[in-house]
Amino acid sequence: MSKKNQRSTTSILSIIFFLATLSIHAQQVLVPPYLQPGNSSNLSNEQKILIWQTDSIPGHFKVEVSLAKPGEIKTIAKTSVVQLKLKNKTTFLYRATLPKLKFDSEYSYTISLNGQPMAEASFTSRTKEKTTRFAVFGDCGAGTPQQAKIAYQIYQQKPQFVLVTGDNVYRSGLENEYRKNFFPYYTAKEADTLKGAPIMQTIPFYMLLGNHDVFGADLDKTPDGLAYFYYNDLPLNGPHPKGMVTVKGNESLVKAFKSANGARFPRMSNFSFDYGNVHIVCLDANSYANPVDPTLVEWLSNDLKNTKADWKIVSYHHPGFNSSKAHYDYQYMRLLSPVLEQLGVDLVLTGHVHNYQRTLPLTFDPKLDSTGTHYAISPEGRVDGKFTLDQSFDGIINTKPKGIIYIVTGAGGAPLYDLSLSGKPELWKHDPQQNWVPFTTKIVSDIHSFSMIETNGKKLILKQLDAKGVAFDEITITK
Ligand SMILES: [Fe+2]
Repeated sequence: MSKKNQRSTTSILSIIFFLATLSIHAQQVLVPPYLQPGNSSNLSNEQKILIWQTDSIPGHFKVEVSLAKPGEIKTIAKTSVVQLKLKNKTTFLYRATLPKLKFDSEYSYTISLNGQPMAEASFTSRTKEKTTRFAVFGDCGAGTPQQAKIAYQIYQQKPQFVLVTGDNVYRSGLENEYRKNFFPYYTAKEADTLKGAPIMQTIPFYMLLGNHDVFGADLDKTPDGLAYFYYNDLPLNGPHPKGMVTVKGNESLVKAFKSANGARFPRMSNFSFDYGNVHIVCLDANSYANPVDPTLVEWLSNDLKNTKADWKIVSYHHPGFNSSKAHYDYQYMRLLSPVLEQLGVDLVLTGHVHNYQRTLPLTFDPKLDSTGTHYAISPEGRVDGKFTLDQSFDGIINTKPKGIIYIVTGAGGAPLYDLSLSGKPELWKHDPQQNWVPFTTKIVSDIHSFSMIETNGKKLILKQLDAKGVAFDEITITK
């Protein structure tokens, strides 16, 4: 090549580079790329979804994925985009599908914008091994310093995935609340106790619907409401029971919302998935839902009967067995206990009450009303019944529970409830006996915390860790 040609090639490249740089500078990434589980529930197929959001300038993105080994062939992931016009502001929400992944494998991905590298990370696909290690917390996206500390500690624990038990953001599940109070903490550039950690770039979050997540369902009042459905990509294997979240508002807003979310709305309200030797069912426990809806119960029965996993775990937001003062009367989920007991559920993970609580293994038989055909529920939501407590289980020497252990792990970041209850069982009492017996064996309500669960074959260890990463409760369950 002549010197003249070399010069002109160099100047063209400079112009292209300048334009690309200009484009990057002009475009603001509102939510950096993060990993989602995608529509893969059982262990027959595996995928991941990458999601990110930019401002109103459309970008030319390219997503490449390969096994994280030298010389592996990179494949280009299919990327789709929806234009969101929320609160008169246009943004773009991108999704890239990483399909047909191998299990138990490390992958790398890179995302480039107009040819310039924008993000890169690696992740491990789901395991088929008989071991898992995952973090659980709820009631988190409040934009507090404690939320950052918990995020930092979860990152240190290196979980395979994270389960968020609802009330993902405060106060109304809005798109701008996720951007302000959620993503900055879990997609921080680096781990910092004051800011959060880069968790979601490499570790998928499974989230479920809490009450705050559906507060913004009237799009006339909150056009960017129900953002749970924009930002999550979860298994679409759930049922369509009668009571599900509905969206309200003027026709064009509702139409745009439904078109942006497709099958995800309202299907992601209830779903299940396998991870290693654990099967987890996530349910929507909001007040419009009937925990014993025949369609839901039928799906749940088939789902839990068909799994070959060693451990059956159910998660929903509103705890049925709660000895705090806050939210005591909301007990609808107690109605589901006989079904869960019959289906061999080991553990129920909830949030809603902003503290940590653990019950003894228990069974519960809800009382019927005078007709003998319906459950008796008080106007406030109380459900009376007969409790059976396994007093002999201690999770140390006796590790074989008779009944289900119910956990409240709602201390993930939002301000705490009933701080005085820690270590004072005399303050946990409620009346009457048909409604409350001493089913709670531990409450820690004065510090923020999260759960770490590890399974290894027929052994499960649950630890509750504080914002310094120190475990203050631990039980072992064996089969
Ligand atoms: Fe809640």
